[in-house]
Amino acid sequence: MNSGRLPCGLAILDKIKTTLFHAFPMLAAATIADEILELKHQRKAILLAHHYQESEIQDLADVIGDSLELARKAREFSGEVIAFCGVWFMAETAKVLNPDRIVVVPDREASCSLVDGCPVGPVREFRRRNPGHVIVSYINTSIEVKAESDILCTSRNAVQIVNSIPRENPILFLPDSNLGNYVRKETGRENMHIWQGTCIVHATFPARRVVEAKLEHPLAEVVAHPECPESVLALADFIGSTSAIIQHCAASQAPEFIVMTESGIQHSLVRVAPTKRFYYVANENCNCSECPYMKLNTLDKLRDCLRDLQPRVELPAEIMRRALVPLERMLAVK
Ligand code: 13P
Ligand code: SF4
Repeated sequence: MNSGRLPCGLAILDKIKTTLFHAFPMLAAATIADEILELKHQRKAILLAHHYQESEIQDLADVIGDSLELARKAREFSGEVIAFCGVWFMAETAKVLNPDRIVVVPDREASCSLVDGCPVGPVREFRRRNPGHVIVSYINTSIEVKAESDILCTSRNAVQIVNSIPRENPILFLPDSNLGNYVRKETGRENMHIWQGTCIVHATFPARRVVEAKLEHPLAEVVAHPECPESVLALADFIGSTSAIIQHCAASQAPEFIVMTESGIQHSLVRVAPTKRFYYVANENCNCSECPYMKLNTLDKLRDCLRDLQPRVELPAEIMRRALVPLERMLAVK
């Protein structure tokens, strides 16, 4: 602190920098980006980012992907540090695949409503009462729930995973009820018990707003994530994971799309299909289409986590060992 003496040269420089950054925020972002790239190099780190991350984070990422692609990339990694820009359960998955490496996240509070709505106690109780059921858990679950599961799935491979289970085996699918209902319909499985969890972003997209958007943009295809309610999925021309939606929009002949998922996907969509137009529908939760958890991550927090190697994912060895079994089973399904 300046206690009456003239500030030193460094303090003056710092003051000039702060004033400039206030006047030109882009300059500050560019500087933080440089710091992140330098730290990434020093730490021998990889930066994995989900499609829902802010565009400036995606621009620095080594890999941008859906939850399945990011898990696969985490499994291939041989460096020292993984900086995971997504939500906590995704970083936990990366840690299970890399128990001896450091996994850091920009914000420890970046959770998921599906994880929060599926505590492990009732899952254990279900298993105790129904020992014959195969527990298929969406990757959007806690590490404790994964450890109780027989196999995992993501939105990309859920139909394939359920189809890989002998038809006579009863299934508990958890925790997303919309994804579960979609999978039941696609696979024709009747002996499938579905947990009643939902995503706060997708489950509150109203079908009536999709119809309004379609009236406004009659040439647009509706593309939807399977976490959307059945009434929205019924209006969709294509249903798939975030990466599957991006691939579809790039390949489709349609010039415009009504995109029923989190709006962070726009950055990747514009990259792969720069001449096409994308429209988003606001949900009834925030009257937006943003995931509040995903948006907790910022460039500043990413820089800090690479610098401090905190917040760090640290999990008991035994639970990682148990969660790895259903995770590897999923990754083995081609
Ligand atoms: P993806 O499997 O498409 O990455 O989706 C994850 C997710 O959290 C969707 O809300
Ligand atoms: Fe979870 Fe929904 Fe956010 Fe995806 S969009 S991380 S499912 S709360």
